[in-house]
Amino acid sequence: MNIGFFDSGIGGLTVLREALALLPNENYLYYADTDNTPYGTKTKEEVKGLAFRAVEFLMSHSMKALVIACNAATSASVEDLRRKYDIPIIGMEPAVKPAVAKSLNGGKRVLVLSTALTLREVKFQDLVARVDTEHIVDMLPAPKLVELAERFVFDGPEVEDYLRELLPWDRINCYGTIVLGCTHFPFFRQVLSRMLPDSIDIIDGNRGTVNHLYDVLKSKNLLNNASEKGRILFFRSGAPIEDPAVLEKYNRLLRP
Ligand code: DGL
Repeated sequence: MNIGFFDSGIGGLTVLREALALLPNENYLYYADTDNTPYGTKTKEEVKGLAFRAVEFLMSHSMKALVIACNAATSASVEDLRRKYDIPIIGMEPAVKPAVAKSLNGGKRVLVLSTALTLREVKFQDLVARVDTEHIVDMLPAPKLVELAERFVFDGPEVEDYLRELLPWDRINCYGTIVLGCTHFPFFRQVLSRMLPDSIDIIDGNRGTVNHLYDVLKSKNLLNNASEKGRILFFRSGAPIEDPAVLEKYNRLLRP
């Protein structure tokens, strides 16, 4: 039985990388909807339709759990997907709660970087209303990071120029934590750490999501007890990825 991971593109690999560290013996399916990336600039209805199509494909491959490794697809579809399928479905959510706890202590603000869809959706707005009692959370869509990541450009002048334009440098020291609220963004952790003051923590929700996956599988007795490492099958918008050069690129991003 497989654990399916799904994203608009390569972003979900940052979540799968964490899963491989915690659950190396599981068998995984990774589905990148690269024909339709990006999701974050589309409407909720469009993304919901794409998510249903991707998940239907994955469900035909004997699945025991699904990780929607995409914040945008989670906010557009997780509840409807859970109503339709009865396997555990784990979604992503920007790590606002731990960020608020950390930053409040230091009297600092939180900046959530994500996509326009995630930031305007009810799921995120509700989360902020619940945890941001002191009104210290700001948010910023960063769509070009998705596009750069899909071109495997994770560092260098193009990324630096964009970040120089995007981030509020004149008040950057107000922030104690930056939340990476899109699964494509951890690929930019290195360049962000280099450009940002050392006092700013950069956090994502990947570890939390994978811990949750572990707890759910354990509680349902679904963990794979095999002693050998599992395998990963990759798909791109409904077709297996067979090109060795592409497979190598994907596998490289999964190495710790
Ligand atoms: N990686 C996705 C997320 O976490 C989607 C990015 C996109 O396709 O715009 O939201």
